[in-house]
Amino acid sequence: MVFVRTDRTHVLELGSTATVADVKAAIEARQGIPADEQRVMFAGRQLEDESRLESCGVSDDSQMYILMRLLGGAKKRKKKTYTKPKKQKHKHKKVKLRVLKFYKVDDSGKVQRLRKVCPQCGPGIFMATHFNRVYCGKCHLTPGPAVIPLSIEMVLQALGSAIWAISTDTLARWMGVSAAVTFVTLLWGPAWLRVAPYGRYSGQGWGFFIGNKTAWITQEMWSFLVPAIWLSCYATEEQWQRVKQPANALLMAMFLCHYFNRDFIFPFRLRGGKPTPFTVWLMATVFCLYNGWMQTKFILCDAPAVARITDRTLAGAVVWLAGWCINLEADNILINLRKPGETGYKIPRGGAFELVSAANYFGEILEWCGFAIAAYPSPPAAAFALFTFANLAPRGWRHHLWYKAHFPAYPQNRCAVIPYFW
Ligand SMILES: NC(=O)c1ccc[n+]([C@@H]2O[C@H](COP(=O)([O-])OP(=O)(O)OC[C@H]3O[C@@H](n4cnc5c(N)ncnc54)[C@H](OP(=O)(O)O)[C@@H]3O)[C@@H](O)[C@H]2O)c1
Repeated sequence: MVFVRTDRTHVLELGSTATVADVKAAIEARQGIPADEQRVMFAGRQLEDESRLESCGVSDDSQMYILMRLLGGAKKRKKKTYTKPKKQKHKHKKVKLRVLKFYKVDDSGKVQRLRKVCPQCGPGIFMATHFNRVYCGKCHLTPGPAVIPLSIEMVLQALGSAIWAISTDTLARWMGVSAAVTFVTLLWGPAWLRVAPYGRYSGQGWGFFIGNKTAWITQEMWSFLVPAIWLSCYATEEQWQRVKQPANALLMAMFLCHYFNRDFIFPFRLRGGKPTPFTVWLMATVFCLYNGWMQTKFILCDAPAVARITDRTLAGAVVWLAGWCINLEADNILINLRKPGETGYKIPRGGAFELVSAANYFGEILEWCGFAIAAYPSPPAAAFALFTFANLAPRGWRHHLWYKAHFPAYPQNRCAVIPYFW
């Protein structure tokens, strides 16, 4: 005998093999509650239809309860295990004078609003400008059309701000790292990467070819044009004051002098040089833009605001000048080895070539070391000197091996790049 409680108590006489379904059938027969709407509960558990009462622990005099199925009630779901961490809730950051970001004073002294005012909240509540929409943080309005068409001007502005935000220290650090990678690759990298494939090593597989004069002008001109355009069109009064400081002016003059020759004189004097593959041209162009920007930004924005010419500046300038003279003379010797129309190679003689096979590279390395000494403590100048060494020293060493392999009468006492040393 078992007791079954609905809204009243039923006493049921069921056999020892009775199942939960039998209980439901008995209740349906007695009280008219459809069996499929009943839930049989015993000892806090819901019993399944096919379970035998005995196996569920129901014995003589036990009391079971009948509950009705709930609309929408279902089996308990398995707990989900999430693998992704929960999204961090946005935390408000306090930025001092954040309001300055919302206005700009133009050249005529007029104040311009840089943010849209929320049409719902009214004046004083600015909307956040995201890349594809504006949004009011107060009333959560995202006015339609939700997608603001991206104009070239906006993209350039965003790009400009992103570039401007990178400090010269960071740029110099990246150049230092790429110098290390370049040096290791050029000396110990895979055979096809050990020489920059231009000049005597020019070869297929690096893109279409660009005439050597055009390549030299278009790749190197940025090192001259970036400072020249910045100074003539965009320099602020403060930047002019900085670059007019004697030591800073000297640094700027060194940089511009070198690149004026390299961009606008040297290429026109070349005779019969090999064309440059596109990839090499692209890498040189990116480097010149990068370096032109980094050196100019340092001198105009980060160099000391008061910079007199010290003994160190002078010593650096002297080393730079010596390097430049060696480089100019060596380039001159190389260019004059060929008569107009000739394309072959000869043993260079005279000047610093009596000491090293790559006298032009030795001069260039010396130049930028002098520049770094004069600009000390300028991370961009130091990084440029390091990169010049990393790029030119291995190439100079390859030139040295190339001369020895191609000219049996090549002078044996010549070093590769650094006189009396390497
Ligand atoms: N700062 C830097 O990182 C950097 C990087 C690269 C270059 N540079 C400078 O740019 C200048 C030119 O560099 P580069 O790598 O082109 O120098 P390069 O390989 O020595 O060649 C210079 C020019 O002279 C010709 N030439 C070289 N050796 C010759 C020989 N034995 N006989 C006849 N002609 C010869 C070359 O003709 P082919 O073209 O036919 O070989 C080329 O027109 C150098 O002053 C260098 O310091 C600086």
